[in-house]
Amino acid sequence: MEKGSVFIVLCVFLHAMVVFGQLTEKLISNPCTSKDTCHECIQTPTCAWCSQPNFTSPDGSPIPRCNQQNRYLDSQLQARCDPAHIINPSNHYEAIYDYELSKKAHSGKEAIQIRPQRVSLQCRVKEAYDLSLWYAQAEDYPVDLYYLMDLSKSMEDDKEKLSELAILLAKEMEKITSNFKLGFGSFVDKVVMPYVSTVPAKLQAPCDGCAAPYGFKNHMTLGTDSSQFAHEVRSANISGNLDAPEGGFDAIMQAIVCKNTIGWRDRARRLLVFSTDASFHFAGDGKLGGIITPNDGQCHLDHRGAYTHSLLLDYPSVSQINQKVKENSINIIFAVTDQQRYVYDKLSETVEGASSGTLSQDSSNVVELIKDQYNQITSSVEMKDNATSNVQITYFSRCLDEGGPLKQTNRCDGLKVGTKVQFTVRIEVLSCPPNPRDWMQYIQIYPVGINESLIVELKMICDCDCEKPGNPGYKPPSLATECNHHGSLQCGKCVCDDSHFGRFCECDLNTDDFYDNQSGCRPGNSTDILCSNRGNCVCGVCECFKRPNQDEVISGPYCECDNFSCDRHNGLLCSGPEHGECLCGECKCKGNWIGPACGCLNTTDSCYPRDGGEMCSGKGECICGACECIETEVGRYSGKFCQECPTCPGRCEELKPCVQCKTFKSGELSEEECDACPFVPVEVDVAQEENPDERLCTFTDVDECRFYFVYGYSDDTNELIVRVQRTKDCPPVIDILGIVLGVIGAIVALGVAVLLLWKILTTIHDRREFAKFEKERMLAKWDTVSFLQLLSLPSILHSSYLTHAL
Ligand SMILES: *[C@@H]1O[C@H](CO)[C@@H](O)[C@H](O)[C@H]1NC(C)=O
Ligand SMILES: *[C@@H]1O[C@H](CO)[C@@H](O)[C@H](O)[C@H]1NC(C)=O
Ligand SMILES: *[C@@H]1O[C@H](CO)[C@@H](O)[C@H](O)[C@H]1NC(C)=O
Ligand SMILES: *[C@@H]1O[C@H](CO)[C@@H](O)[C@H](O)[C@H]1NC(C)=O
Ligand SMILES: *[C@@H]1O[C@H](CO)[C@@H](O)[C@H](O)[C@H]1NC(C)=O
Ligand SMILES: *[C@@H]1O[C@H](CO)[C@@H](O)[C@H](O)[C@H]1NC(C)=O
Ligand SMILES: *[C@@H]1O[C@H](CO)[C@@H](O)[C@H](O)[C@H]1NC(C)=O
Ligand SMILES: *[C@@H]1O[C@H](CO)[C@@H](O)[C@H](O)[C@H]1NC(C)=O
Repeated sequence: MEKGSVFIVLCVFLHAMVVFGQLTEKLISNPCTSKDTCHECIQTPTCAWCSQPNFTSPDGSPIPRCNQQNRYLDSQLQARCDPAHIINPSNHYEAIYDYELSKKAHSGKEAIQIRPQRVSLQCRVKEAYDLSLWYAQAEDYPVDLYYLMDLSKSMEDDKEKLSELAILLAKEMEKITSNFKLGFGSFVDKVVMPYVSTVPAKLQAPCDGCAAPYGFKNHMTLGTDSSQFAHEVRSANISGNLDAPEGGFDAIMQAIVCKNTIGWRDRARRLLVFSTDASFHFAGDGKLGGIITPNDGQCHLDHRGAYTHSLLLDYPSVSQINQKVKENSINIIFAVTDQQRYVYDKLSETVEGASSGTLSQDSSNVVELIKDQYNQITSSVEMKDNATSNVQITYFSRCLDEGGPLKQTNRCDGLKVGTKVQFTVRIEVLSCPPNPRDWMQYIQIYPVGINESLIVELKMICDCDCEKPGNPGYKPPSLATECNHHGSLQCGKCVCDDSHFGRFCECDLNTDDFYDNQSGCRPGNSTDILCSNRGNCVCGVCECFKRPNQDEVISGPYCECDNFSCDRHNGLLCSGPEHGECLCGECKCKGNWIGPACGCLNTTDSCYPRDGGEMCSGKGECICGACECIETEVGRYSGKFCQECPTCPGRCEELKPCVQCKTFKSGELSEEECDACPFVPVEVDVAQEENPDERLCTFTDVDECRFYFVYGYSDDTNELIVRVQRTKDCPPVIDILGIVLGVIGAIVALGVAVLLLWKILTTIHDRREFAKFEKERMLAKWDTVSFLQLLSLPSILHSSYLTHAL
């Protein structure tokens, strides 16, 4: 391809892009007008609905009721909607409970760590609302710590150590909070093959000095007595099982959900320390022991705190654990030995608020571990919510960096007791759920691991009141005269029953004629446009719009015709009623009138010159009764009959013989031919052009005299007029002999002068040569010239040599 064509293709492509862009911009610029019902309208951002019953344009055509609010209020537009009838709900926020954050629980009142606590919010689709949320960790907040221990044989030393460290643990925790409770539970595994040996002897004592195996047992309900904790740990009996993984998940589940038995407090940081040196069984593993009923996530502890459904229910799954952890705001701390760390790290990533730490072989670092994990948990806050997919919640915060930029994050770290952090919670309804019951949702926004939350009573604005019976703006069919009682009036619009249709439900679907209602309003089924967009399709028949001007009428079965958009001539439609009339967009001319606007006469009479020349002198066409002249390479013809052409030969040649014979009795014409000349020249003293249409002609006659004449046409009769100058211009007689002699004389004189000049020049030259010769003879005396002189003066040598030779 050549560079040029590449460029053209590029230009065309760019142009197409621009056109396409403009087109799409046009199409998407107003998303409202295509919405047909009030609820569709208000589910579209920025759109407002006009529910005024008589909302039509002056010609009776319906206007889209859904539009941008400012379009309705613009007084320039005809489509003005009474503000009282505009439905344009906006987001509405109201705080229901908004208690101050409190630093400390006192006089029976619980500490408040999150503000506000309950709000109601009405939100339109895709119009986000930003609400502010504050969080501050209270001082001396209650802490519940439940220690869940694997009591298989390998943990024996750990148990001993823990009982020793119990007092220390309680002391350390009391430094953090005065409101501390401690509990203890243990687990082995399901007592069934292959997890535990079922040989009767082994069932009694699976190992030396071991107690019978069990699933989970709560030894100590959460309490403040740390010596009791030490005692319980010490007196708990080690047991044994067969396979490596333990039944820890059963224990975690029970410890979480058995709120009363374990003794979890409503308002407390809940820590569940899970210590083991082995991995775990999870959902599906129960099948090996013939247990197939999935875990139900319920509490099943007997009065002594033992798990009763160990052999009936499978192990819980990771997501079941996560679910319960979320519901109960538990922080699990996996305190596991080094070999197991990797597995439990992965597990803590999938369980909300969980963390893990490395336990030494004998658990001697357990106090340090718990303290570290606790500090880690409490120094950060992470906001979560339980919104459904229709609602999007995004969190922004500056965290501790008060002057810093607002970042999108739901987590802040490095907090201390009492530091206040603000979150901006952006709530956006993405779409209305199909079921109207879901339009009201209670969304919980909570900091992970804390049983406190903000409840958002979210009402999605998905429909209009005037679409529901019993509201103003809704008329049931029995009252809706506007809809011919065949439908209800909703938000200004008729919603017809199943057997009727039309803007006012005036059409009966059961009448066979109109069954194919819309096809009668379209010229063919290739187009979707009804009534050419210039009328309403009423029961299958077009009702064309009326024009404000009574003289303008739209007609035709598809409103495709009108009698006002024809061609105009001099501002008159079809040049006025005498010339023609406008029928379906085209002028129908009367009489001799022709042309698109009937502005022309179909006659050529006025295009012939009176003197009987050709039509338009053969140099033009007769159009609309007037000559339209052509243009040739010689020049452009003009004039009434295209007779003029300043740069063209003209009629001078043609008229010359008649002028010659009539005026001067000369020229080539015979006497009879002269009599046949079509004009009689007028003799004048001086022939000259008197107006631009006239033309001056000049010729030389046989007697060498010049004669002049002018021709033109009379304004009124178009007759040829020729004016001839009475006298010719003749040249004076010339003396030829004088001239010849003069010339010869001049030539001779010039010759003599040249000869003289030549003689003088040669004489001067000869004299010069002679003088030179004399001078060189004098130089011949220089015979004794030295050799060196000879070398430096070769020209002298040369001349003297020559002189000698001579
Ligand atoms: C619609 O009707 C109300 C009264 O029913 C009248 O005030 C208003 O001018 C009407 N509007 C138009 C556009 O006809
Ligand atoms: C541990 O075993 C001893 C003796 O075997 C028994 O007395 C004690 O009650 C057991 N402890 C628990 C908590 O079951
Ligand atoms: C959270 O605290 C409230 C009282 O403030 C209590 O009714 C509710 O049961 C607690 N939730 C859990 C999971 O403990
Ligand atoms: C979110 O949690 C709250 C409190 O548990 C509950 O009432 C609400 O129904 C939940 N919302 C959703 C959308 O699940
Ligand atoms: C025409 O009739 C069809 C049923 O045949 C109905 O679905 C449709 O809404 C009607 N159209 C109009 C404009 O009334
Ligand atoms: C148009 O309508 C005619 C008659 O109703 C029918 O035969 C034809 O198939 C239709 N064409 C299309 C493209 O729908
Ligand atoms: C258009 O037609 C109507 C009705 O036939 C007539 O009254 C009106 O004068 C016509 N207008 C023009 C401009 O011809
Ligand atoms: C003009 O009139 C001539 C006859 O007088 C006719 O043959 C010709 O078709 C007419 N032209 C138009 C455009 O009406």
